[in-house]
Amino acid sequence: MNYNIGVLISGIGSNLNAIINNGINVKFVVSNNPNALGLLIAKKNDIPVYTFKNLLILEEEVSKLIVHYNTDLLVLAGFMKILSCEFIRSLPYNSIINVHPSLLPAFQGKNAIIKALDYGVKYTGVTIHYVDEGVDTGIIIDQAILPINEDDTPKILQDRIQVIEHNLYSLTIKRLLEKKKS
Ligand code: GRF
Repeated sequence: MNYNIGVLISGIGSNLNAIINNGINVKFVVSNNPNALGLLIAKKNDIPVYTFKNLLILEEEVSKLIVHYNTDLLVLAGFMKILSCEFIRSLPYNSIINVHPSLLPAFQGKNAIIKALDYGVKYTGVTIHYVDEGVDTGIIIDQAILPINEDDTPKILQDRIQVIEHNLYSLTIKRLLEKKKS
């Protein structure tokens, strides 16, 4: 099975790294941030990278890249910009997915891990969801639960969450692509 995806990043790219290591065929990586460390991961793996600081231009170029590389799914992996309604509506509903570090609908938006710790919830987790016009409001595809420990700091909890993300995101992407191709 040939899994063709495009990935949008803004930062470290640990999820991108896991996706590549899990054998998913990443055709292109786009970042809004020219200093995103994830771009180095892509380059090391001979994946074409593109950087566009301006969101409108980024969206126009991503639309072209999707056609050019014939990708089946656009994967947001730590992409910190909010895609425009026009861009989202220009693609079929099930073609953009995101990973979020909480059990949605709890703690949408930025700083979800700190928000969960501050609130004092006993469990948090990871959500994979389709991207719609809202912020972290699209249909939930899969979730994993994680207990919060007494001694969790934002950093410790983030590390534990990311271990789950790295596994769950790749499994979900493969599952979705198999469904699309069948
Ligand atoms: C992930 O924890 C993801 O949940 C959130 O942004 C973070 C990106 O991390 N959306 P990385 O760049 O993949 O390391």
